[in-house]
Amino acid sequence: MGIQNMNLDLKQKYNFKNIVVLTGAGISAESGIKTFRDQNGLWEGHNITDVASPFGFEKNPSLVHEFYNLRREQLFEVSPNPAHLALEKLERNCDSFHLITQNVDDLHERAGSKKIYHMHGELRKIKNIQTGEVKYFEEQVPPKDYILWRPDIVWFGEQVKYMDEIISCTSSCDLFICIGTSNNVYPAAGLVHNAKKNSAVCIELNLEETQLSSLYDHNIYGAASEVVPKIVAQLTV
Ligand code: APR
Repeated sequence: MGIQNMNLDLKQKYNFKNIVVLTGAGISAESGIKTFRDQNGLWEGHNITDVASPFGFEKNPSLVHEFYNLRREQLFEVSPNPAHLALEKLERNCDSFHLITQNVDDLHERAGSKKIYHMHGELRKIKNIQTGEVKYFEEQVPPKDYILWRPDIVWFGEQVKYMDEIISCTSSCDLFICIGTSNNVYPAAGLVHNAKKNSAVCIELNLEETQLSSLYDHNIYGAASEVVPKIVAQLTV
């Protein structure tokens, strides 16, 4: 379905009590943060396993830190877009709302969203590899700390964060909205199954079809900054 005829009568037909939203890189694309899978398997010119795996970090911690230092610096140049802002409005107008994001940027926080599960970690946090201490860090990690600290990002082959909370909220929601993710990476892509088991209405918002589009009750194709505010308006009238 395109944006033009996307009135799903959500408020009229349903009275949702428990909303879960899953976001991916597509929601931040219009803020200027590049998505992953439109770059020929490279992430800002790097092989993904070199910069996003424990093996890559062991091999070359300087490269990994310099890569994430640049990503962290980029956060100062971007701002939340209307899709992030609309989700904050949705949270304010809902009794039960959970936002699950695969994104490591802080645009949901800066839009004002409160209950956020960063299942793949956060750019603005680093972790001490000996003690496990995690701290907020908005600056560049200096070279003297390259061995002792690592970005608090979930790399390929590592456990995602908040999985108990995420299973619990997706298994009990009555509306599940998936925004701007290619649905290529699990367990995030599989969360729609939990929602469906609970007979939740499932809506996918994306620029294009994904490999899991057929699992959703509604698929709306368009830019997140246009589509998300329209869906939120239907839920909050
Ligand atoms: N509006 C809506 N959707 C968009 C927009 C937009 N403006 N721009 C891009 N998209 C969609 C693309 O069509 C694609 O389906 O966003 C999706 C982005 O897909 P990916 O780049 O694969 O990002 P994501 O699904 O978040 O990746 C998941 O993979 O590399 C790992 O850990 C990384 O969290 C990431 C995970």
